[in-house]
Amino acid sequence: MNRPTHAPIQISPLAPAHADRAAALHVAGQPGTFLTALGPKVLAVLYRVLPVSPVGFGFVAAFEEGSPLAFAAVTTSTGRLFVEMGTRRLPALLPPLLTRFVQQPSLIVRSAQTVIYPFLAYDEEEAADQPVAELLAIMTDPTAQGQGLGAALITAATDACRQRGIALLDVTVDAANSGARRFYARHGFNFRRQFVLYGRDMALYRLPLVVS
Ligand SMILES: CC(C)(COP(=O)(O)OP(=O)(O)OC[C@H]1O[C@@H](n2cnc3c(N)ncnc32)[C@H](O)[C@@H]1OP(=O)(O)O)[C@@H](O)C(=O)NCCC(=O)NCCS
Repeated sequence: MNRPTHAPIQISPLAPAHADRAAALHVAGQPGTFLTALGPKVLAVLYRVLPVSPVGFGFVAAFEEGSPLAFAAVTTSTGRLFVEMGTRRLPALLPPLLTRFVQQPSLIVRSAQTVIYPFLAYDEEEAADQPVAELLAIMTDPTAQGQGLGAALITAATDACRQRGIALLDVTVDAANSGARRFYARHGFNFRRQFVLYGRDMALYRLPLVVS
């Protein structure tokens, strides 16, 4: 996509109305990953829940008045978010999830790993006495990458974290995703360690935020 000359980037809060678009961006941005394998309908439930959950917030980015080309999603409790999806949102979640389980039974085991993932990623040394949030996803439409949308979303997400008194922002990324790892390092995230999830090496990064 050619960016309109000098078109300003517009950032808006992620809303349930963006859920289908966010799910489509997720599928395009992360081909071959577990969450993408669950399908856009399951992802749309996640992105409908997150912005109205007390433990979630996010942003979408666009050029001028255009449709969103990128989004970022943050949670202060991955565990509570999953519990919310599996309880209050179960009627919406179950049909698309069961369809995918029937089509691809191996997804059942990986779903169970996802529910215990907050515990896998947890490390005593990382236990912080400061409030921590997790950047669950940041995705830019493949046709619009490298044009500053991701950077604008990081700024919006970190500003929102500071406003909420969050002192640390964690992100887990596939260790082989060198582009995203460079992106996080450039935005001040520090590499913490690697761990294995879904049989793949994952890298955990943490961004310290100055809270005034
Ligand atoms: C990582 C990502 C969100 C960055 O968004 P973006 O809008 O391209 O970000 P910006 O334009 O602000 O910065 C681009 C930087 O991202 C990195 N990058 C990663 N993949 C890239 C790609 N396909 N094209 C361009 N830059 C890419 C580069 O380090 C680039 O830095 P540079 O400007 O020094 O070359 C985006 O590339 C993306 O959606 N990637 C696929 C999904 C993903 O891996 N998300 C992170 C894991 S949840």
